[in-house]
Amino acid sequence: MIELDTITKTYSSGYFSRDSKLAIDDASLTIEKGETLGLVGESGCGKSTLGRIAIRLLEPSRGKVWFDGIELTALSKSALRRMRPQMQIVFQDPDTVLDPRMTIGDSVAEPIKIWHQSSRHEVTDKVLELLDTVGLQQDLISRYPFELSGGQKQRVSLARALALDPEFLVADEPTSALDLSVQSQILCLLKNIKKRTNFTLLFISHDLQVIQSMADRVTVMKEGKILETQKTSDLFTSPKHSYTKQLIAASYASEAWFGKNVKDD
Ligand SMILES: Nc1ncnc2c1ncn2[C@@H]1O[C@H](COP(=O)(O)OP(=O)(O)OP(=O)(O)O)[C@@H](O)[C@H]1O
Ligand SMILES: [Mg+2]
Repeated sequence: MIELDTITKTYSSGYFSRDSKLAIDDASLTIEKGETLGLVGESGCGKSTLGRIAIRLLEPSRGKVWFDGIELTALSKSALRRMRPQMQIVFQDPDTVLDPRMTIGDSVAEPIKIWHQSSRHEVTDKVLELLDTVGLQQDLISRYPFELSGGQKQRVSLARALALDPEFLVADEPTSALDLSVQSQILCLLKNIKKRTNFTLLFISHDLQVIQSMADRVTVMKEGKILETQKTSDLFTSPKHSYTKQLIAASYASEAWFGKNVKDD
């Protein structure tokens, strides 16, 4: 289980303290083991900041983060590093994680080589298995990122994130940069992998329809604050906050009801 306990994050952007920005304001949430929690809110409300704090890629200004009973925020750098394989993140833009000079195979193999003492043969087998898991042809192993489409690159970054069998995955707008049809393919893929491996998922999106298709429960954020967390179906039938009602109305009003395109199989 993941627990964020009264998290506050202030970014100081200038020399004077009045230049600092309160990005997260006293936010608490829990994510049950194996659950998908959707985190939704408008651009700039603090979703990415909170997602990074959840795996301590970013230090909170105040508050604690717990991971399976271990206080992440109290760990030394070396203790935190030992826990890294268990906590992974997928970003919106795969180009931020894929080295353009490395082949796809080497990119996926990198975390395995760092963390496991496997033979070359074992690493290659695992890379091929991962490419298969994310629906990529084996011959992509020797290609470079520039030879792949955006959707293929996002599949590679997902394979990299899954390479160490993480217990907790943060997916920060993983499909927002993709065409609608590719977006729905990647969401289906993520859902299906999740069903098989059952990691805990924090799924971040500004798009309520995408969140609806993915999440067991939804947390709504606005201006650094958590407004409400509800089971996904309850959020749509009985939103507690007027801002949530606005989000729902806006998502119903949008042209394509994207959620219905994301099927389980
Ligand atoms: N490194 C930083 N330095 C200063 N301010 C930052 C930094 N990162 C984020 N912020 C500010 O903190 C607030 C929250 O940013 P964050 O990226 O977490 O929002 P978000 O909800 O993920 O937005 P988006 O939907 O656009 O990705 C924003 O006002 C942003 O400008
Ligand atoms: Mg963001």
